[in-house]
Amino acid sequence: MRFLDALGKKNQGRPPVWFMRQAGRYLPEYRLLREKHSLRDLFFTPSLAAEVTMMPIRRFGFDAAILFSDITAIAPAMGYSLDFCEGPLIQPLAKATHWEALREDLSLLDPIAEAAALVKQQLEVPLIGFCGGPFTIATYLIEQHDGVGLPQTYSWMQNDPIGFAKFLDRICDVCIHSLNLQIQAGADAVQIFDSWANALDEAQFATFSLPFLRKIARSVKCPTILFMRGSALRAEQLAEIENAAISLDMGRKVSEVRQFVSAPLQGNLDPDLLFQPLEDIKRAVRSLLQEMHSDPGFIVNLGHGIKPGTPLEAVSAVLETIHKSY
Ligand code: CP3
Repeated sequence: MRFLDALGKKNQGRPPVWFMRQAGRYLPEYRLLREKHSLRDLFFTPSLAAEVTMMPIRRFGFDAAILFSDITAIAPAMGYSLDFCEGPLIQPLAKATHWEALREDLSLLDPIAEAAALVKQQLEVPLIGFCGGPFTIATYLIEQHDGVGLPQTYSWMQNDPIGFAKFLDRICDVCIHSLNLQIQAGADAVQIFDSWANALDEAQFATFSLPFLRKIARSVKCPTILFMRGSALRAEQLAEIENAAISLDMGRKVSEVRQFVSAPLQGNLDPDLLFQPLEDIKRAVRSLLQEMHSDPGFIVNLGHGIKPGTPLEAVSAVLETIHKSY
C-alpha cells in the first residue's frame, strides 16, 4: 500500500495522495446527506460516519481514507457538553480549572471506533484515525474561538503552568484511549491535529505542545503523522519526535524541509490553488512531484484542510496529474 509504504519511507513510484478534510462540504453527496442529518448525527452514528468517510474514496480514489469525526468529539467523553451550531461548540466551564470535577464517560468514544470498524469492511486503502493535539483541544475546552486570540488559555498557561500541564496530560490520555480504540477497530495510521499550536512561542511550544505529541506518538502502535499550522517552519522541532511523519503547511517548500528533516513528509499544496484554472493546478502539482521525485517518504496533501466550495474538477485534476506522472 503506497500510503503505508511512504510512512515507512519505502515507497517506490508515484507518491500517495489524500487531502485533509477530504470528507466534507465541497462534496455534493455530503451536502445532500447533511440536509437530512444534523452534524451530531453524522459524527456519532457509526453507519453515517462510515458512509461519509467512504465518499471521497469512491469519488476520487484517494490512497487513504480519514475517519469522519472531529477533534472535538472527545469533549463529551471528558464530561463537557458539545453542541453544534455552524460547527462544534463546547460549553466552557465557568472556571476552566474545575475540569477535575467533571464526570468522564469514555464509552462515549465507542461510536467513533464502531464507525472505523464499519469503514474497514468496505475500504481497500488504508484508514487514518485521528485526534486533536492536547493543546488545541484544550483551547476548545477552555474558550470559544472568536478570532481574537486565546486569552483564557494564555492566562491559565501563564498563571498556573503546572495545573495547565496536568489538564493537557489528562486530555492526552483520553486522546491515546480514543486512538487505541480506532486502531483496534482497524485504523492503519493516525494523524494528530495540533492546529493551534502555532499560537505558542518556541519555549511554550516545547513545554505545552511537543511533549504531549511525543507521548501520543510513543503510545500508539502504528505510524503517526503530526500536523499544526506553522508545521513547515517548526519541522525541525517536530522531527525531534522519533518515528513520526510531519504534515507540512505552506510555510516552506517540502523539498526545502527535506534538506533538514529525514522523517516522512506530507503536504503541502495551497488549498487556494484549487480555485485556480486547471492548467495552473496541474503545473503546480507537476512541479511538486518533480521536486520530490523518487523520495520514498513523501505523501501529497494540502497544507491545510480543503475548503468548502472547492471545485470537484480541481480535485480530479490533482489526482489525474499524479496518476499520469510516473
Ligand atoms: O475529512 C476529514 O479530514 C475528516 C474529518 C475531520 C473533521 N474535522 C470533520 C469536520 C477532521 C480531521 C477534522 C479536524 C478538525 N476539527 C480540526 C483540525 C484540523 C484543522 O482544520 O485545523 C479542527 C480545528 C476541528 C474543529 C472544527 N470542526 C471546527 C472549528 C469546525 C467548524 C468550522 C469548519 O471548518 O466547518 C468543525 C466542523 C467540521 N469538522 C466539519 C467537518 C466536515 C464541517 C461540518 C459541516 O458544516 O457540515
